[in-house]
Amino acid sequence: MEQLLQQIDIYKTEINGTIANTKDELEAFRIKYLGTKGLVKTIMGEMKNVAAENKKQAGQLLNEFKIFVEDKFDELKNASENGAASIKAQELDLSLPGTADNMGTRHPISIIQNKIVSIFNRLGFSVAEGPEIEDDWHNFTALNMPENHTARDMQDTFYILKNPDWILRTHTSSVQIREMEKGKLPLRIICPGRVFRNETISARAHCFFNQVEGLYIAENVSFADLKQTLYFFVQEMFGADVKVRFRPSYFPFTEPSAEMDISCLICGGKGCNVCKKTGWVEILGCGMVHPKVLENCGIDSNKYTGFAFGMGIERITMLSYQVKDLRLFSENDIRFLNQFIAVT
Ligand code: PHE
Repeated sequence: MEQLLQQIDIYKTEINGTIANTKDELEAFRIKYLGTKGLVKTIMGEMKNVAAENKKQAGQLLNEFKIFVEDKFDELKNASENGAASIKAQELDLSLPGTADNMGTRHPISIIQNKIVSIFNRLGFSVAEGPEIEDDWHNFTALNMPENHTARDMQDTFYILKNPDWILRTHTSSVQIREMEKGKLPLRIICPGRVFRNETISARAHCFFNQVEGLYIAENVSFADLKQTLYFFVQEMFGADVKVRFRPSYFPFTEPSAEMDISCLICGGKGCNVCKKTGWVEILGCGMVHPKVLENCGIDSNKYTGFAFGMGIERITMLSYQVKDLRLFSENDIRFLNQFIAVT
């Protein structure tokens, strides 16, 4: 009995001094002391040699020893897990520069389109969209351009199908027809979207570009309303100092029709290369909706009048950012695209 006690004390000292830095060392500890052939089992086997009167006391001692070893094992296990975590933390060098996230930027055309849309939103216009592949009726005929009408030549058209005619829309006026046909009046919409024309690609023209067209139909809408609306737009878009002028023009779907110029943003009207020395740049076409167009959409032209306007977003973007070649907008050159931040 005395011997057993001494033996246990020796083991306890040994065990207390054990450290386990790695998983392998921890496992070695488990096998040596707690395994099926481990020390704890072996000393338990000594019980049979203990005299009968000491058995109870010896049993208690051995049990305590077993618990002692198990506690030590848990302690080593916890320590090694925390150790692993702290080694990981040391490997993480917080002083290293981070990996930069490439956030991207908005396309300049989107920036300007959003700005145009938000200005008209404030005037009560809501966005309407329609298909890029159109039928002849919505793109031409309903807009007072029947077959063989010479005005169709104003916009060289891409045909997808002939008879029935399916085309790529040449303007978003087609969306306005679709909205008018729904018959809900008054109507106050803007139609942003991509349009297509079979034009030779150059610095000033492309076979696809983006437009925002607007339409307001109600009772007693006048040309003065049109002018005031567009004047507000120009001031919000380009600033309070910019002047506007209207020139008579022709569109089959409006009567009277006009084109609107703004004083050149670059030279302030003195004359430069951008305005071709005139001091003015054209930015949009507009007019009072032709009664025939209203009737084509089932609207009573004696009761209702309206105005419409349409502008190319590329043109406005080129003026806003002084971009000289509109091909840049569709080439997706990152060096060009990441220069743009929203203009306010
Ligand atoms: N649809 C015309 C174009 O694309 C623009 C326009 C719209 C003109 C509305 C007058 C009225 O050129």
